[in-house]
Amino acid sequence: MSPLATAARFYGSSIGKKVIVALSGVVLVLFLAGHLTGNLLMYAGQDAMNDYAEFLHGMLHGAGVWIARISLLVALVLHVSTTLQLVRMNRAARGSEYAKKSTVQASISSRIMAVSGLTILSFIVFHILHFTVRAGNDYDSLTQTMADGTTRHDVYSMVITGFQFWPTVLFYVIAMALLCSHLGHGVSSIFQTLGLATDKSWPVIRKAGTAFAILIFLGFVSIPVAVMLGALKLPA
Ligand code: HEM
Repeated sequence: MSPLATAARFYGSSIGKKVIVALSGVVLVLFLAGHLTGNLLMYAGQDAMNDYAEFLHGMLHGAGVWIARISLLVALVLHVSTTLQLVRMNRAARGSEYAKKSTVQASISSRIMAVSGLTILSFIVFHILHFTVRAGNDYDSLTQTMADGTTRHDVYSMVITGFQFWPTVLFYVIAMALLCSHLGHGVSSIFQTLGLATDKSWPVIRKAGTAFAILIFLGFVSIPVAVMLGALKLPA
């Protein structure tokens, strides 16, 4: 069998799909950890945050950010579409008679996985329109003047301005809570799917997954909340 046919056969199987969901999940989790670490530079001030944003956009003469965006998009599309295919496969395998019963019996966490996953997807669309496309906002006019007189985009002030409207903050907090719920179940499932969990290590993996999800929640939520409480302010 050709390598392509082997890959297609693997992707066609239920375990193949689970592995793809897990591996794409790893990429998304690594992105989240990196994005949060970068965002926490908000607490180090305007220069630190804007230096970091400038570095990201200048990586490999501007190609780096596009490589990262394309990799993320591929991971996200694979993660969502493969999960939907798995749900359909599972339903078909159960048959319609049993499906009714099993929907009632499905674990709360797995039902929440679908709701939280789709909410995170809508959040990502909103978030990209908010801070990357900057639709409907005049964030492009926010610039920082450097010592040599040149100017650069002021991401620090953009984030603070972006969280001045409390309903936006509320939406971020709700989305982050659902992200936390999704990660709380998803991160430990990655280890299970990839065969990295044993009976002995499973309780530790579950606790570590929950702890990671809570850290991600607190880290991300702290920024809009700090803006609301006036702990993060526009530069004087
Ligand atoms: C309060 C929490 C967050 C803040 C303050 C924040 C901040 C930002 C900022 C400022 C940008 C634009 C960077 C730039 O153009 O220089 C950005 C982009 C982005 N963020 Fe967030 N983010 C947060 C949470 C999240 C979460 C939870 C996710 C994923 C679930 C996420 C996914 C993304 C993505 C995919 C981009 C687009 C990257 C690009 O193409 O440029 N962010 N974020």
